[in-house]
Amino acid sequence: MKKVGIGILGLGTVGGGAYQILTQNHQNILRKENLDLRVIKVLEKAPDIAIKKGVPKDKIAASIDEITSNPDIDIVVEVIGGIEPAKSFIEKCLTSGKHVVTANKELISKHWSELEQIAQKHNKGLYFEASCLGGVPIIRSIIEGMQANNIIELAGIFNGTTNYILTKMSEEDMSYADALAEAQKLGYAEADPTSDVEGYDAMYKLNILSTLAFRKQIPLESIYREGITQITKTDIQSGKELGYTIKLLAIARMYNNSLEVRVHPTFVPDKHPLANVRDSFNAAYLVGNYVGEIMLYGRGAGDLPTGSAIVSDIIYCAHQDNPRYLKFDSKLNDIKLVTDFKSKYYMVLNCADKSGVLAQTAAVLGNNQVSIDSVIQKGKHKEFARVVFLTHKTSELSMKKAIKELKELKVVDSIESVIRVLD
Ligand code: HSE
Repeated sequence: MKKVGIGILGLGTVGGGAYQILTQNHQNILRKENLDLRVIKVLEKAPDIAIKKGVPKDKIAASIDEITSNPDIDIVVEVIGGIEPAKSFIEKCLTSGKHVVTANKELISKHWSELEQIAQKHNKGLYFEASCLGGVPIIRSIIEGMQANNIIELAGIFNGTTNYILTKMSEEDMSYADALAEAQKLGYAEADPTSDVEGYDAMYKLNILSTLAFRKQIPLESIYREGITQITKTDIQSGKELGYTIKLLAIARMYNNSLEVRVHPTFVPDKHPLANVRDSFNAAYLVGNYVGEIMLYGRGAGDLPTGSAIVSDIIYCAHQDNPRYLKFDSKLNDIKLVTDFKSKYYMVLNCADKSGVLAQTAAVLGNNQVSIDSVIQKGKHKEFARVVFLTHKTSELSMKKAIKELKELKVVDSIESVIRVLD
């Protein structure tokens, strides 16, 4: 039996969940894993919160030094979130000879390589399963379940708040504002929901997971990002009529040694497994060249689901004789990051309802190499006809140029929506 001392930085939702699992499931973990996991100290700036969650007063530390200088602590769990002081605390823990387990997606996305170098220098582990998709073991699946494969595609619903909002808009005909208010009431969305609804949260997770899946350091700024704030009930209704469900998808795809990485609202064909991931659930859909399709589904947030991923990392770390570091083959770094990715599009134009209009708009698309799959005139917007185009797979740049030219046409009043369609 191995004794493992743990320090926890932050006893908010995730820290509280990890603490609950570590104390409640102590005996089972001891029996199954032969590990005696003991929380030695908790650093929490509001001690009342820690006491309410059952932490004895003498285990509450007043400063990071009390954690880093404690010889009984082997592994430190960072669940403060954000960049500072989390980053300085992690650095201090690693240099003081502690392994680190973190749930901090923004920090890992922006500073992983720097932190991993510090960890390696001190021969300590840095683990972050809980940073992506809460309780869903996606990182372990990629790096320890799919090693035999070259991953071709990684796509998924990586943000529970936006999935909840889109599900409510789609199934209960709620407006975006009402669905967001309900997500805030339930504690899914923060008072400032920007990170979720503008796609930053999903982008950080995609950044980490695609870096692991393709073993290429992917700069955050190379990821295309678009949130859900412009999506309307009309878009959702139109999508339904065409056999699509709208989702905020994170997508990374490899083809011909090129990689495209993007987050945006997407019409997902109803028969695709991601279309049925509802409410605040997360899912990751992976394609390996040998195994084919794999899908993981579960709770992407919350105290116990995310706490489950934290404790899983603690157990993993405790079993390692030497920390695990990932290799980045420089040859694989020949992979080109593509910003002009290809997608199918759904586009609605509000046009004058008279002869020649369809020909003019179709000509703009044709001149820009955008091939039309189908076109339907459906309903009115004020005195204008709503014309819905579905395109074949087309380049992002061609589409942008076509949109700019369409806006300049006298017969086009406005472009109501442009939504990418999953192929
Ligand atoms: N805010 C995230 C979500 C959970 O709504 O999925 C934490 O990553």
